[in-house]
Amino acid sequence: MAEPVLAVRELHKRYGSQEALAGVDLEVGAGQLVGLLGPNGAGKSTLTKIACGLVRPSGGGVEVLGRPAGSPEARAALGYLAELFRFPGWCTAEELLRFHQRLSGSAGGEAERRELLALVDLSEAAEKRIEAMSKGMQQRLGVAQALVGSPRLLLLDEPTSALDPVGRRIVRELLEELRRRGVAVLLNSHLLSEVELVCDHVAIIAGGRLVKAGTPEGLAGPAAVEVETGSGVKTFEGAGREDAPQIVAELVAGGESVYRVEVRHSSLEDVYLDAVGGQTG
Ligand SMILES: Nc1ncnc2c1ncn2[C@@H]1O[C@H](COP(=O)(O)OP(=O)(O)O)[C@@H](O)[C@H]1O
Ligand SMILES: [Mg+2]
Repeated sequence: MAEPVLAVRELHKRYGSQEALAGVDLEVGAGQLVGLLGPNGAGKSTLTKIACGLVRPSGGGVEVLGRPAGSPEARAALGYLAELFRFPGWCTAEELLRFHQRLSGSAGGEAERRELLALVDLSEAAEKRIEAMSKGMQQRLGVAQALVGSPRLLLLDEPTSALDPVGRRIVRELLEELRRRGVAVLLNSHLLSEVELVCDHVAIIAGGRLVKAGTPEGLAGPAAVEVETGSGVKTFEGAGREDAPQIVAELVAGGESVYRVEVRHSSLEDVYLDAVGGQTG
């Protein structure tokens, strides 16, 4: 397999006596969209800040394109949108992007600014002051800011929690476009809807530990086959669609009458709530 764009290995972080990360492993490859799910306080922002080089790990480490997190090469390769960001209200969208182009040394000029604003559906708002924008517009501008300089890795900390359904759909479509362009994305969220729809891979953390990881479909696997028979409803936990014929054949061979068969799936939400022990954050 090609070298991962983001590699998190045995990552530990203590804030005094508070253990924020207790040995987390995670990889994001080029063009891969990974959702890091977990309730508030799980350690998601800490992991992201370590990847940016803003917080020092207590153990283990993070590499971006094979370079240690925080090194100039690693920083140059990533774009970041913090969970609680605040841009100056007097600044226009255009000015903000120009400022970030200067900060990151991007030579993209006006063409890059125009493309980024179009990408986040803010072409009409180029000259609008940030203080006159809705929270959703500001969030999308934040994503555009993170994409200045065409980073190979995009770290988005709760990018959709403040958005309405339309804003979420715009971000979702944007993430799909970034995947087509081969950008690696790590998206933190304590919500499920949008992550379930776009991520290739989901990692669930709680209490600083990875509790579950896999594809959304793989995690939300079959839950049970339910059969209504002459002697009542029988539930076969853990069985899937492919087990149904066998289950029915055995029941019939045993003299039962079968009236109804249903394959029940557990949603990613069930898996998530189960994994984090009912904490919703
Ligand atoms: N700067 C800090 N100082 C002390 N404790 C912190 C600091 N940042 C985070 N924590 C603690 O670390 C844990 C993980 O926090 P965080 O990474 O922000 O979680 P999440 O982003 O998943 O909500 C929490 O218990 C939080 O209170
Ligand atoms: Mg957070």
